[in-house]
Amino acid sequence: MPSAPPPLPSALPRHVAIIMDGNGRWAQQRRRPRMIGHRAGARAVNRTIDRCLELGIPALTLFAFSSENWGRPDDEVQALMKLFLHALDREVDELHRRGVRVRFIGERERFGASLVSRMQLAEQRTVDNTAMTLSIAASYGGRQDIARAARTLAQEVAAGRLLPEQIDEDLLGSHVALADIPAPDLFIRTGGDTRISNFLLWQLAYTELWFTDVLWPDFDTDQLQRALDTYAGRERRFGLTSAQIAALATETSSP
Ligand code: FPP
Repeated sequence: MPSAPPPLPSALPRHVAIIMDGNGRWAQQRRRPRMIGHRAGARAVNRTIDRCLELGIPALTLFAFSSENWGRPDDEVQALMKLFLHALDREVDELHRRGVRVRFIGERERFGASLVSRMQLAEQRTVDNTAMTLSIAASYGGRQDIARAARTLAQEVAAGRLLPEQIDEDLLGSHVALADIPAPDLFIRTGGDTRISNFLLWQLAYTELWFTDVLWPDFDTDQLQRALDTYAGRERRFGLTSAQIAALATETSSP
């Protein structure tokens, strides 16, 4: 059983996390360079943010670049960095105007100085916004995230500020990325593969998973709605029984 009580069942997820896969294949199908697919993917990002804002989904996390993506051909990595830079320059004003708090998770120190400073500026500028938290996972890996949290706690133990027996799920969980917002309720992966691929490994423990063959640039509001409808129909038990979950819901809904 998880240490925290299960959240109330709700039709709308409080946090959606997405692996945006299939940009390259989308371009290849059109006999175009892969970068054309990434640009179309950036438009799908805007559509998805818009729709989540309209629906009132309070948190959206997008896997933009994994720690493994550094191994891609150099020209694709460079072109993706350029695309991220332009997207930041172009979109942050509008995101700020709409009340979006923008954050980045992952090893940002691996990016170039201009991208790192744009990331910092975007975060500082939007830090007080409350309409939605948009977290961009960039040079992110779930194992790396957990290892970093473990290292921080090990340093605390070494410094005599923490006892090993004080380390539990709650404490480790409070040191991984996104610890200040609810864990994702719904995970979406486009592009046909049914894997988590080292995305939020800790945070996805009780997340509902939804996969589609649709390639990311073709992901639209209808697709998002299909994922949300499926989510709304799922019974989330968090290791408990159906009867226990029903009793919990009655308990919390009665005055
Ligand atoms: C995976 O498709 C996609 C990426 C590695 C990059 C994601 C980037 C974007 C969606 C563009 C803009 C993003 C932001 C946040 C502005 P793939 O290249 O692995 O596709 P494939 O599996 O078909 O080759």
